[in-house]
Amino acid sequence: MVLDALRNRRLALARTALATTTAPAPADGEVLLETVGLTKSYAGADGELPVLAGIDLKVRAGEIVALLGKSGSGKSTLLRCLAGLIPPSSGTVTYRGRNLTGANPGTAMVFQTFALLPWLTVQQNVELGLEAKGIPAKERAESAMRAIDLIGLDGFESAYPKELSGGMRQRVGFARALVVEPDVLMMDEPFSALDVLTAENLRGELMELWESGQFPTRAVVLVTHNIEEAVLMADRIVVLGSRPYGTIRETIEVGLDRPRDRDAAAFEELIDRVYRIMTGRTKETRTPGRAETPAVEKRTLANTPLPTATVDGLSGLAEIVAHRDGTADLADLADDLGLDVDDLLPLVDALEHLGLAEVHGDDLLLTDRGSSFAGADVQKSKQIFAEAARDLPLVRTILTSLRQSPDGLLRAGFFRDVLAHHYTSEQTTQQLETATDWGRYAELYSYDAEPQEYRLDEEI
Ligand SMILES: Nc1ncnc2c1ncn2[C@@H]1O[C@H](COP(=O)(O)OP(=O)(O)O)[C@@H](O)[C@H]1O
Ligand SMILES: [Mg+2]
Repeated sequence: MVLDALRNRRLALARTALATTTAPAPADGEVLLETVGLTKSYAGADGELPVLAGIDLKVRAGEIVALLGKSGSGKSTLLRCLAGLIPPSSGTVTYRGRNLTGANPGTAMVFQTFALLPWLTVQQNVELGLEAKGIPAKERAESAMRAIDLIGLDGFESAYPKELSGGMRQRVGFARALVVEPDVLMMDEPFSALDVLTAENLRGELMELWESGQFPTRAVVLVTHNIEEAVLMADRIVVLGSRPYGTIRETIEVGLDRPRDRDAAAFEELIDRVYRIMTGRTKETRTPGRAETPAVEKRTLANTPLPTATVDGLSGLAEIVAHRDGTADLADLADDLGLDVDDLLPLVDALEHLGLAEVHGDDLLLTDRGSSFAGADVQKSKQIFAEAARDLPLVRTILTSLRQSPDGLLRAGFFRDVLAHHYTSEQTTQQLETATDWGRYAELYSYDAEPQEYRLDEEI
């Protein structure tokens, strides 16, 4: 029942979004993309190199389809054929029943490498797709703002890609694709260039949007080599095999309820099944390492440096601990996430500083605030984060100084000088980077890299 209600809401939203286009919004189950007998070869030194053969595939409105396979199995090639970026060697690709003759008008792509233009701001990068469609400036700006807001990028509009963490950059990639409200969102390993926690956090946010019906697309095709990601996100998993060339080895319906519980026996069973289909063997286990317990003290600028942790990283960690009923052994965590303890500890510090988690012995425990944070949607988590971050010495210093400045603006140099009393130049730079990322996310203040200026954002 709930699922039906969500589907209907998604349909209604998609209809509103597409109200200006001529074609009616696709109903759930309508075939949006289809390949029949698709083959693809590339020209190689020794003649044609066959990559895909005999691919019959349908993508329907309302579903997330994962194309899963090892590297070189032809996933990206198939995705590019579906998007009309390259023609098949034989067979057909159709979008809503029409043969593709060029770029597919119903798709937009998110790339592993983000593919942002470094000289454009976040807002300008997001508007790019709309500019190509000849949409007037005012409408462009409004649509971009909506996409930016939806994906949790508000506060970063005027930032340049090089100032952003990987997770924030990929959010720009998502916003740029979603802003055109494509029928089908195409994603080519969108999380694989990100660290584990950032990837985890971004996946969680996307699935929340999809499940709540706020996603302005009707279907998703996700290319991945990550089995767990496929089982977590997809309604259907299409496993591509690569011997002798890419064919569909098996298609698996993932009938698990959403939001999905990784700890459920059915989830684990499906992972094992897909694992066996792909490799013919079972999962290995690794040996755990050890983690040290960080100390917590009374906080001042001098004794509480902001840890080098991005919002995405610490949110991802909080979500993972939440999945484990709010408590996790630090060593197991580091091991399971494939992180060095050195990478994990700044994130643990960050969660502690923010009052989102506590370390007891070897265990990391989410606080009540941490549990709400992990379970919240983007806007609510921003709010919780803002409340928590406000109490940290450096964030507090920036905020109170900006409030006292007549125009609500201050140069970064001002805060560098303050920090120089306690820290090396490198530590100062790192802390200001963290303070910028956190303050932007919390929408407390923004930072303009050009004049190197902080500006008050919070509503007083
Ligand atoms: N433009 C190209 N020219 C020649 N060979 C290519 C080209 N693109 C991909 N290939 C080859 O096709 C095979 C499948 O590649 P790809 O679709 O990128 O696989 P995947 O995304 O699953 O890793 C690989 O062997 C790759 O080397
Ligand atoms: Mg690929």
